[in-house]
Amino acid sequence: MNRITPEVLRQAHAQCRGMPVYPDPNFPPSLYYRFFEGVARLAQPDFSVELGTCGGGASLHLAKGCPSSRVTSFDLTREPTVQIVERTFDNFRFIQMDVVEGAILFDNGSVGVLFVDTTHTYEQTIKEHAAWHPKMVSGGVIFFDDLGREGMWPALRKIGGEQIHFSDLGGDGGMVAILIP
Ligand SMILES: C[S@@+](CC[C@H](N)C(=O)[O-])C[C@H]1O[C@@H](n2cnc3c(N)ncnc32)[C@H](O)[C@@H]1O
Repeated sequence: MNRITPEVLRQAHAQCRGMPVYPDPNFPPSLYYRFFEGVARLAQPDFSVELGTCGGGASLHLAKGCPSSRVTSFDLTREPTVQIVERTFDNFRFIQMDVVEGAILFDNGSVGVLFVDTTHTYEQTIKEHAAWHPKMVSGGVIFFDDLGREGMWPALRKIGGEQIHFSDLGGDGGMVAILIP
């Protein structure tokens, strides 16, 4: 895996608007999906993980951006479009499981890219970070989105670290990237 630096993130951010939208209307044309595709392509992580799959669009783009990486996505419920991602990208797997409990399935120091996208409450965000931060590899990155939700900024202040804010990505209030030293 290539170390994820502020420059890598800026490059992925600069490129994402010019990237083609995934040609399947089952998946929304979200800009942050293409940003993730670019991050995966530049960083070439061994493992990426998404907490909160919903339709699977974010994982689809992580899998597409780096076919040699393994992308795992957790959700309590399984949306029908998850099957499309499974059929199209053999480096993707879905696990129907609570995201905090799911951390036990990964070795410490193994995950390059983590996207945290479940309930966005203060308590849940702190629990998710505590469970998954040890799983991160040096040079990796954790993304949190929907920063406009009450509790997200207080949680991010408590988590600390080197944080880069992208106000135009990730829905309500933007997205933050926390770099793992
Ligand atoms: C905002 S949606 C995810 C959107 C998706 N990441 C994307 O970018 O397209 C949040 C998802 O988190 C799931 N979720 C909430 N709490 C969870 C938990 N404790 N464990 C697993 N999944 C959870 C919900 O079922 C829901 O599908």
